[in-house]
Amino acid sequence: MFGVTGAPVAHSISPAMHNAAFEALGMDAVYVPFPIAPEDLGPAVRGLFAAGLGGLNVTVPHKEAMLTVVDDLSPVAAAVGAVNTVWRDRGVLRGDNTDVAGILRACARDGVRLEGLTVILGAGGAARAAVQAVLLSGGEAILLNRTVERAEALAESANTLWEEERVHADALYEGDARIAVENADALINCTSVGLKDPDATPFPWVDALPEDCYVFDTIYIPPQTRLLREAAAHGCRTRNGLAMLVEQGAESFRLWTGKEPDVSAMGSAARVALGV
Ligand code: ATR
Repeated sequence: MFGVTGAPVAHSISPAMHNAAFEALGMDAVYVPFPIAPEDLGPAVRGLFAAGLGGLNVTVPHKEAMLTVVDDLSPVAAAVGAVNTVWRDRGVLRGDNTDVAGILRACARDGVRLEGLTVILGAGGAARAAVQAVLLSGGEAILLNRTVERAEALAESANTLWEEERVHADALYEGDARIAVENADALINCTSVGLKDPDATPFPWVDALPEDCYVFDTIYIPPQTRLLREAAAHGCRTRNGLAMLVEQGAESFRLWTGKEPDVSAMGSAARVALGV
């Protein structure tokens, strides 16, 4: 048995994705949602693994709290400051963050490596994962956030951890934003702007993007946000966040089972579950 915990968690499409992966491999396994209240998190997670759970995904609001529940934290999860995957390895509860691999693999599908300059919009949890993806790829990042202090704090903590100055911060306003993207190889939207709103965009200045800039939106509802629509019309290559969602799930699956999942079956199941 495998599962996902969050509060709430009923909306999660992870069960659809992982059950499709089990089915494709003919595995006798099931993946279910576990709604756990924040105050019960530690005992509930330990109890589930004591009862034989094979692996757990973690979503809002438990990703940060899970840092102190696990016995062993991967360097990536520590760097991001969030755990989205837990499993038990010879009695040790291990925590990792596969959102970073999810971004890297989603970009790699398009032949993009994040080795150059990536402009990241936002400074929340998704942006923390994107920053580590860029740093692991050997690239540089400029963070643009409405609340510039949050971007500055994230840049400083990432630079301190890596002992390098590869992350910079600016305000998500027209002047700074136009200058930041002048030489950008990639732009990743990690804000929630555009989520379920086809008219909202965090970056109404796509004309400032180089035409060969790759534009990735971590949002996948709607499948084509205004940002992606305008970037595509400008000539940029684009990708929505569904690929990241599927790839972070596939990476969890590998950690838990040691098997290679059918990623395209997971993607199809995710699209059916989302109705897109
Ligand atoms: P997540 O963990 O999903 O990244 P989060 O921590 O709530 O979520 O971060 C949401 C991001 O979207 C933040 O960068 C937020 O900017 P602030 O730090 O200034 O709040 C950004 N965001 C949300 N609504 C926004 C808006 N209307 N305009 C610009 N940025 C917005």
